[in-house]
Amino acid sequence: MQDKAKLMKKIEKELSDFKQSPLYKYRTENKFFPVVGEGSLNSKIMFIGEAPGKKEAQTGKPFCGASGKFLDSMFVSVNLKRENVYITNIVKDRPEDNRDPSREEIKLYGPFLDRQIEIIQPKIIATLGRFSFEYVMRHFGLENQIEPISKAHGKSYEIDFSYGKVKIIPLYHPAVALYNGGMRETLLKDFKILNKW
Ligand code: URA
Repeated sequence: MQDKAKLMKKIEKELSDFKQSPLYKYRTENKFFPVVGEGSLNSKIMFIGEAPGKKEAQTGKPFCGASGKFLDSMFVSVNLKRENVYITNIVKDRPEDNRDPSREEIKLYGPFLDRQIEIIQPKIIATLGRFSFEYVMRHFGLENQIEPISKAHGKSYEIDFSYGKVKIIPLYHPAVALYNGGMRETLLKDFKILNKW
């Protein structure tokens, strides 16, 4: 079996040449990078956001801007070390003007995320925001349990999957706390569910 790092490198290479993406031109014109993901390939926990913001596209690293700062403080609150988890997004290139990723972009980039899940085989998947929650629920065949994120946040959805038991934990996107300070406590409270692992 090829090792995890080699398989991840292959994904990285394919993404860097991903000319089929409508975001490829925007990436190259702006000297942006695709954001493949970062962290431990042996982690039991995987965090999945939506798409890179400007800072992420400039550096090639997920969640290194303002939302990432808040995410880091949530990691600290549950004694998780960023380098011990794996963090990625569904869409690996920055959509223009920070808009939401489109349905087509999610469909186009989704197979890369599917392969990353297969490589890492996480026991826990924490989704950050409604796009990744819905995508991951569908990936694991739980589409009929999809709820609005306002209901689903902080719950745990379990599935016996091909590689073992998986828990999906939907969380609000950390950016929510940036534009609505009143939500900080909710996000921090939901994050506590990750304390148990
Ligand atoms: N928002 C996301 O969804 N992902 C990032 O990497 C940064 C901001």
